[in-house]
Amino acid sequence: MTDSKQIIEKLDSLVIPTAGRSIVGLNLVRNIDVADSKVNIKLASTGLMPKLQDWVKKRTEEIAGSLDEINEVSVEFEDVKAKELNNIGSVIAVMSGKGGVGKSLVSGLVAVALKRSGHEVGILDADITGPSIPKMFGINLPPTGNESGILPVLTKSGIGVMSINLILPNEDEAVIWRGPLIAGAIKQFGDDVLWGNLDYLIIDLPPGTADAPLTVLQSFPVSGVIVVFTPQDLVDMIVRKALNMAAKMDKKVLGVVENMSYLYVPEIDKKIEIFGKSRGEQMAKTAKAPLLGQIPIDPEMAKLCDEGKIEQYHGEIIDNLSRNLLKALKTG
Ligand SMILES: Nc1ncnc2c1ncn2[C@@H]1O[C@H](COP(=O)(O)OP(=O)(O)O)[C@@H](O)[C@H]1O
Ligand SMILES: [Mg+2]
Repeated sequence: MTDSKQIIEKLDSLVIPTAGRSIVGLNLVRNIDVADSKVNIKLASTGLMPKLQDWVKKRTEEIAGSLDEINEVSVEFEDVKAKELNNIGSVIAVMSGKGGVGKSLVSGLVAVALKRSGHEVGILDADITGPSIPKMFGINLPPTGNESGILPVLTKSGIGVMSINLILPNEDEAVIWRGPLIAGAIKQFGDDVLWGNLDYLIIDLPPGTADAPLTVLQSFPVSGVIVVFTPQDLVDMIVRKALNMAAKMDKKVLGVVENMSYLYVPEIDKKIEIFGKSRGEQMAKTAKAPLLGQIPIDPEMAKLCDEGKIEQYHGEIIDNLSRNLLKALKTG
């Protein structure tokens, strides 16, 4: 006897090309009824443009119909809000006391690290002051969707990305938006983006500790924050403010990351602390959270980011980040 579990397993091979995810991964399969040789499949049409919807219906019929004991397949669509279909393991927000310290870089590296360790990952670029995630991953296609949801844009290694930059017709437009408008747009992302089943959603927050990052933290079920700083910051003050904000919002600090920690000079095999002595351990102590990584100043990495190739970056930095973060998530 064919049962619904077997059909779901089969349908997991039906990948939506623009999203790079299967209809099962996107949580679009709502119900499967099998009676004798007949099967009735109910799918959510969320995020599927009419043409795509027709294609999904046809493929679903073919796939289910190819099972031995099935002679008749009917496929129905229902309209479901994206938010209802999202099933996200952990939402991790990346925060910094001020701009330009590498918050987006860390968001990108964390996503790449988690993806490499075999997880389903998405990035929500909520930093409207400098939406740099799409550039870092070399993506610029507008997202597709319909009334009930929009699909993230897929990176080369299969990370889903949503950013206001992908939606606005030109990249400079974002900066002239007013605060409340931006807050509204980011909130709407929470309702309208179809992530489906995701292990981790990384949010690149606006910098600082003012209203903008606060609004985002309030709008999403954030389970932990990562605080990024550099040795040249007035670290203590800025990081303390960031930590206070997390505490006030009742958000767990998963860990801290020190960026631009040092410069490695291979000719003399030395690490030079250009911006002053590393404060990594000290900050970790202040935060009562682990030091997830110390990222050196690396022109090669900066170049990859500029060229949209962050996913090609390899090295112990990213392995350590992944290992430490997964450990921090487990103990949380
Ligand atoms: N460790 C690093 N080595 C080299 N360049 C870096 C490093 N960290 C950040 N950068 C560069 O500095 C700039 C600002 O980084 P970004 O991640 O966009 O900061 P933020 O998001 O905090 O404003 C980018 O051009 C980035 O490529
Ligand atoms: Mg940024």
